[in-house]
Amino acid sequence: MNAVQPVATKSIPTSPPPASPLAAGASVPLAFIGAGMAGAVLGTVCLVRSPAVLALPHVHPQVVAWTHLWLLGCLLTVCAGAIYQLLPVLANTGFRGQRLAWVHFAVHLAGVAAMVAAFEASDMKWVGIGGLAVSVGVVLMAHHVVKMLREATRMDPVLAAFGLATAWLLLTVMIGVLLAGNLHFGWWNVDVLAVLRAHAHMGVAGFFVTLIQGAMFRLVPMFTMGQAGALRRVGWAIAVAQGALIVAAVSLGLELAAGRLIAVLLFAIAFGLTALELRRVWRTRKKQHAEPGIRGFLVGLGWFVIALVGGGALAFGAGDWRSALAYGVIAVLGGVLMSVEGFLCKIVPFLVWMRVYGPRMGRQVTPQAATLGHARAEAGWVWVHASAVALLGVGAAIGNEALLIAGAGAFALGQGLLLASLLKSASHLWRPVEGAAARAASF
Ligand code: HEM
Repeated sequence: MNAVQPVATKSIPTSPPPASPLAAGASVPLAFIGAGMAGAVLGTVCLVRSPAVLALPHVHPQVVAWTHLWLLGCLLTVCAGAIYQLLPVLANTGFRGQRLAWVHFAVHLAGVAAMVAAFEASDMKWVGIGGLAVSVGVVLMAHHVVKMLREATRMDPVLAAFGLATAWLLLTVMIGVLLAGNLHFGWWNVDVLAVLRAHAHMGVAGFFVTLIQGAMFRLVPMFTMGQAGALRRVGWAIAVAQGALIVAAVSLGLELAAGRLIAVLLFAIAFGLTALELRRVWRTRKKQHAEPGIRGFLVGLGWFVIALVGGGALAFGAGDWRSALAYGVIAVLGGVLMSVEGFLCKIVPFLVWMRVYGPRMGRQVTPQAATLGHARAEAGWVWVHASAVALLGVGAAIGNEALLIAGAGAFALGQGLLLASLLKSASHLWRPVEGAAARAASF
């Protein structure tokens, strides 16, 4: 990530933006990312202990608890950290929301813990209470996002994607709390499955896919030293995806079969436009060797394409409840988790380097950021994780326990490899290398 120097903003801030691109010395993003990875460890332990849970119907309390552990406990926590770090850099503003970000951190973790435990116990009252705490955190983050966007030196489709993703997240948590309240109090006579599908797609596709779709057009050029995509074409890809999301949310919520098919078609067009523009960016890269993190990200995008094909088949009425769970496994553990963790392989060493070695620049030899992690462990993660998702997806689709056990084992190995690399980077926070060791690491 390049150090972006702040320039004058449209609205005049009360204090000048900090010269460093680190949000609050990186402690806020690193805390969110660390907590999110602790969520991944917990999710992996659950999977290894009872892989057969993935042979249960997707509305089983255990499956719903795991879904929220991964989506909120791991992925949303990591992405919130990334948003606090990236947005001020992309918007060319300063980070001034540290206190509220820490409040977000606290209510988010408390809320997710309460929600996951309550889902396991099928206690919708506590799901709703935990969900309210998570929602307070999301509102605080949304406040930060709106502030950054308003102060941005100029608006572009990438920044707009951050705003749109946040809007989908707000809708998702609002519907989640209402859904939990309705399941507890029975206020309205609604088709719970239809609302659940709309809520799930707004969260997974609305928040995560929009965020990834926008952020990739800044992060991939940064990490590969290529040229940013043409903003007009990126804007079109994002606009079509937003159209698809609106049609999908309405048609899933109201059970409109034709609408679901139109949404699949629009998503396919949006994916195609995104892939074309990403290919253009990729061709301009100066780093010819694709690092493992970038490869992992690209494999994650491949899982999204497979999920789209699966979602299309489900929209046509093919498949059963097992296929619906396999679709979720591929979209969440394949698409979202792989692309987010791929970016983490680059973001974590950058944050650690900026925090530890940034202030030492010019005073000592510093190691290169790319050498802080463990490239071979990351390369292993890419293929082991991809194989694990294939095993878990097929195992869930046919309800085969042996495949699920093998998939859970491979999944744990992949997460172990990734964690080993991220922890190696993080260890520089408390054990920085000095002098000769740094010189050796810098080559
Ligand atoms: C305030 C936060 C949230 C609350 C209170 C909440 C609540 C709920 C409830 C009550 C269900 C239905 C469970 C059932 O019928 O037994 C559900 C399902 C689901 N939610 Fe959430 N949710 C929240 C946030 C999210 C977010 C942010 C995402 C995605 C990013 C998400 C994704 C899902 C998915 C994928 C399902 C379907 C699970 C399955 O079928 O296995 N939720 N949620």
